[in-house]
Amino acid sequence: MKYKGAVMNDSQMGERGLRHLLSLENMPKEIVIDILDRAGEFLSAASGGAKKVPVLRGKTIFNLFFENSTRTRTTFEIAAKRLSADVVNLNVSTSSQSKGESLLDMVNNLVAMQADMFVVRHSQSGAAHLIAKHVPSGVHVINAGDGRHSHPTQGLLDAFSIRQYKNSFDGLRVAIVGDVLHSRVARSQIHVLKTLGVDDIRVCGPRTLAPETVSDLGVTVFHEIEKAVLGVDVIMMLRLQHERMSGTLLPSPQDFFRGYGLTEERLLLADNDVIVMHPGPINRGVEIASSVADGPRSIILPQVTYGIAVRMSVMAVLLGNSL
Ligand code: CP
Repeated sequence: MKYKGAVMNDSQMGERGLRHLLSLENMPKEIVIDILDRAGEFLSAASGGAKKVPVLRGKTIFNLFFENSTRTRTTFEIAAKRLSADVVNLNVSTSSQSKGESLLDMVNNLVAMQADMFVVRHSQSGAAHLIAKHVPSGVHVINAGDGRHSHPTQGLLDAFSIRQYKNSFDGLRVAIVGDVLHSRVARSQIHVLKTLGVDDIRVCGPRTLAPETVSDLGVTVFHEIEKAVLGVDVIMMLRLQHERMSGTLLPSPQDFFRGYGLTEERLLLADNDVIVMHPGPINRGVEIASSVADGPRSIILPQVTYGIAVRMSVMAVLLGNSL
């Protein structure tokens, strides 16, 4: 499918449509809707007993995770297997990187093994872009999280989850709370929600973690959670990214919870039908109370389930564009 007039990072586009998934910034709405709709079809098929489909039979997908992951790596593996692809989970810590092999030399060797797709997580922003620029045509790259830049499949699965529970994005009020500064998830959520027409996006955290400059993304910045969650339909909590911050930015976990933790009392300020989301892993008692994380408004575990269908959809769309 061709997307005429698409204004997007050209490095993602091939002649037949989306070739790589690197970022959701400026992603055309029709591509987002196409991915969400196909995810819905995969989800329905799985509920009807057809978990496994032959869409990517004969394709070889490499999971390259240079940074730890539970949800993303595992759901990509399950998604690829459900599409009947062959999946290789490269153990980076025991790979020849430890002998000094460069990232691109490693990729060259995996391409020589006839890789069709790389799913890449890396602590450095831009790592997936670098690989995407390097691989030959016919090979696809999905960014599974790079530094603090982007986590596009998380943004898409979050949008899919919201659509499952709210049906529509019209008039939606969304609060994103926590460590916005270091969060690739928040950036991807904001990009996809803006694309889907959500105008009321409120970002909230201490000034060190939610600086006023975030408003450049077209969101309203709050520093008091009670004001940010007032009347909202969706609350998206973020994990404190300890690994990406210096200690001076962060109050103690207890202070953070006192100021910004999502408690049952604060939840009462939101709309009665509010849904609570979190990309995981959650820090109980730091950004969210256990009673909220496990409570009736939480859709944190359904988000994980939907991640499989959304990742199936993304892989099918990208590889479908090279068939
Ligand atoms: N949400 C997310 O990226 O979780 P993992 O780090 O476990 O993959």
